[in-house]
Amino acid sequence: MKVNWPEKIWVNSPMRLMVQKWETRFFQGLHDMPPGAACLEIGCGRGAAVPLISRWFSPRRIDALDIDPEMVRRAMGRRRGTTPHGLIMAADAQVLPYRDQCLDAVFNFGIIHHLERWKLGLEEIARVLRKGGRFYFEEIYPPLYANRLLRHVVAHPRENRFHGPEFRAAMDHVGLDLLQGYHESRFAILGVAVKR
Ligand SMILES: C[S@@+](CC[C@H](N)C(=O)[O-])C[C@H]1O[C@@H](n2cnc3c(N)ncnc32)[C@H](O)[C@@H]1O
Repeated sequence: MKVNWPEKIWVNSPMRLMVQKWETRFFQGLHDMPPGAACLEIGCGRGAAVPLISRWFSPRRIDALDIDPEMVRRAMGRRRGTTPHGLIMAADAQVLPYRDQCLDAVFNFGIIHHLERWKLGLEEIARVLRKGGRFYFEEIYPPLYANRLLRHVVAHPRENRFHGPEFRAAMDHVGLDLLQGYHESRFAILGVAVKR
């Protein structure tokens, strides 16, 4: 589900960029990957994380996708002239346009909770990752985005939502093993998983 205009103010803000900067460094410090990887960012929004991933992980290519054509246009503008190469595209994270086991890493900055079929999103991530590939993720839970105040401000799917136990169990179910050092509170989780 696309973000509504109040949430766009947040995801397009300098504060969001600061958070993503911190998180990308956290990911890299927690579990780095060898340079030359093929990466994908799902739900890339305006594309602010692409140069961050490039800087901290030195991949061979980074693709990025988002369901919202307006966000894709912004991400394309930001991408111009940057390296490494990669595609920016409008696509659904629940049906990834990739063959099986072709990627070394998938990055998720707060998009799985926007998916109507979030377990399918995790299945797709596990499908496209090579054995040993990494899933770097920041995800948030209903006490943050669907609390009494925010549920009237931001728009998210309401049915079949996940908290930490369901999210961790679903990763395990699709063959993503959570690595040590993750951060979790009742609001959010930040961590790295590896494809079994
Ligand atoms: C909370 S925003 C996060 C944007 C960016 N990752 C960030 O951290 O600033 C969630 C993003 O996921 C995108 N999104 C929602 N449903 C999607 C889907 N089914 N497939 C791909 N992207 C989706 C939205 O359009 C939005 O850009």
